[in-house]
This record gives sequence, C-alpha cells and structure tokens, in this order.
Amino acid sequence: MNTSDLPSFWVLIPAAGIGSRMRADRPKQYLQLADKTIIEHTLACFLSHPQLRGVVISLAVDDPYWPNLPCANDPRILRAEGGAERADSVLNGLLRLYELGAEDQDWVLVHDAARPNLARSDLDLLLAELADDPVGGLLAVPVRDTLKRASADGRVQATVDRSTIWHAFTPQMFRLGALQRALADALIAGVAITDEASALEWAGQAPRLIEGRADNLKVTRPEDLQSLNLLWHGRC
Ligand code: CTP
Ligand code: MG
Repeated sequence: MNTSDLPSFWVLIPAAGIGSRMRADRPKQYLQLADKTIIEHTLACFLSHPQLRGVVISLAVDDPYWPNLPCANDPRILRAEGGAERADSVLNGLLRLYELGAEDQDWVLVHDAARPNLARSDLDLLLAELADDPVGGLLAVPVRDTLKRASADGRVQATVDRSTIWHAFTPQMFRLGALQRALADALIAGVAITDEASALEWAGQAPRLIEGRADNLKVTRPEDLQSLNLLWHGRC
C-alpha cells in the first residue's frame, strides 16, 4: 500500500473525560505508560502520518495537565472545549474543525484519548478501505467469547449467537458534514450516543466494520493499563 494514495484526514481526540472507572489520581489519559503519558502515545500514531491535515483535542476547561505536555506546543494540535458527555466533546471538536478550514466532505477520524495502542497498519487499513466509501466506518473486532444473556437473578437465560456481534473500536472515520449533522440531530432528539457510528446509524446510514487488531485497547479499568504495560515492555 502506497501511503500517498491514502486520503488526507483530520483527527479529533475527545479527551475531556475524568476516568471514573480507573479510580486514579488524575484522568486516565494523563497516566504514564512506559516513557510517555497515554495521550502522547495516542497522538504519536497520527502525528507521524503524512496524510494528516490537523488535530483537534477536546479538553476539560480547567484541565491542568495538558499545558505541561510538550505536544501542547505542536502547531498541528488545536484545542476545543469538552462537554458533559463524550458526544458533546466530539460535537464541539467538529465545530472547531470548521474554524480551522475543514469542509463538509473532508474525512475526520475520531479516536479515544485513552486508546494508545493503535497500530499504524490499522490506521492505514481503515483509510484505504474507506477511501471511496459513501458512508465511512470504524475499526472493530468480532467478539471471541461465548455470550450469555442474563436473567434478573444472575442466572443464564440463553446463549446468544455471537456470529454477527462485533466490538466497536476507534478510530471512527466519517465525512465531517455528515457526522456533524447526525450528531447534532441525535443530541437534540435526546438519543443516547456512545460512539460516532451510532449517530450515523440513527440517521439511517450503515457504517462499515473494518476488522482491526484486538490489542487496540481502550484503558478503562486499572487492569487495562497493566495489560498495556506488559505489551509495551521493552518496546521503548
Ligand atoms: N470523553 C470526553 N468527554 C466526556 C467524556 C469522555 O471527551 N464528557 C472522552 C474520554 O476522555 C475518553 C473517551 O471519551 O478519551 C472515551 O470515554 P471513556 O473511556 O468513557 O472515558 P471517561 O469518560 O474518562 O471514563 P469513565 O467513563 O470511566 O469516567
Ligand atoms: Mg465515560
């Protein structure tokens, strides 16, 4: 795959969460992983890509950690204000992209700040597979384990057919205009939006699932950081 054949793209990193399930002394994106903070690893994969046009990062208004990182001075990274929910942070970031000159038809990749192990090969795969797609899509992984539906008393009610079930990861790649409209409309309608694809789904579109690596982990709980530390061991 020739990198110059891949489409150019903007990146939006929602990073305004507090990481309540991580129970750390700071939001999880600022915890250390090997030689850098999680968010610095997350950004590195995009910043080294020649087709990158720019990055917007949505931050809590009173975030005291970001300004101390070297990448806060990178001219390719601009700030937006975070919101109450992830979807609000993403929508603010999309509006900021327009201010930077991005247009409706431009590709934007939304990626969790707390997902630092994105492989360059997965990023290139997503860009290549969706370059000519009318809708866009997301990195995802088919579920591996047997799935059970639970009854209220904590017993197995049924074994669920897993053959069509996937885990939704990020980046999620959509056209800026379509994503911004779908997200804004869904929020006005009061629909619960947990990722960008669900906003497009609500608007009647069918995003494509691109099978990526299972180790594109999001740090959610302390054991996730332990797993990544093991993966990272000896890498830096
Ligand atoms: N996020 C955000 N704005 C919010 C909530 C979340 O930008 N209001 C971001 C987080 O910083 C994270 C990503 O969305 O990069 C995925 O969210 P999640 O893993 O749920 O992170 P937190 O909300 O920080 O964690 P928790 O739900 O455990 O509090
Ligand atoms: Mg959250």
